Amino acid sequence: MEDENGFGGITRREMLAGTAVAVTALAITRVTGLEAAPAAPIVTPVESAGVSFSVNGKAVNLQIDTRTTLLDALREHLNLTGTKKGCDHGQCGACTVLVNGRRINSCLSLVLQHENDSITTIEGIGTPENLHPMQSAFIKHDGYQCGYCTPGQICSAVAVLEEIKAGVPSHVSADLNGPMKFSNAEFRERMSGNICRCGAYSNIAQAAAEVAGVEG
Ligand code: FES
Ligand code: FES
Repeated sequence: MEDENGFGGITRREMLAGTAVAVTALAITRVTGLEAAPAAPIVTPVESAGVSFSVNGKAVNLQIDTRTTLLDALREHLNLTGTKKGCDHGQCGACTVLVNGRRINSCLSLVLQHENDSITTIEGIGTPENLHPMQSAFIKHDGYQCGYCTPGQICSAVAVLEEIKAGVPSHVSADLNGPMKFSNAEFRERMSGNICRCGAYSNIAQAAAEVAGVEG
């Protein structure tokens, strides 16, 4: 039954004031894109776990949030910032590292998946005093402009030459069972996951060709 105010104990004035506040809050949400803060924040407990692996030959033990990617573990927890974060979605290849000799996008891999793995980042490919031949070739052939994609390009290129040597076929290999040979088409196909916004592709291919010992 309605009480004398007709709104369950709330006066007409109070109800109209409450409605006006709600409408104003909704309007602010629409024009700013910001959601109103929930009355009580939902707190999700963060779970952590331990993982052990090696990076560039050094043993690493981490106790880490279970949601951490390998890329973030390298950059934020191990201070190995040579590996770059471009898209963080597996689309650019800037985060390429080698895991047990094979290249992967570290942004797509949880660090906890790497128990006992051997990881090589650009810092482990070569040093300023002792460059890897691929690094020297990139310098010689101007295989970069801004350099943001370069660590990923170099890690990937080093692994590509190993894949070809090991006879791993690609989408453009004419003979899936025969010995693989370096060619411009093979290299470009295998490097298609490494994007360079500066467009240094021709120079990168020339650098890799030199390391492979063939004409670019
Ligand atoms: S940052 Fe990993 S693929 Fe782009
Ligand atoms: S050198 Fe600039 S993105 Fe490749």
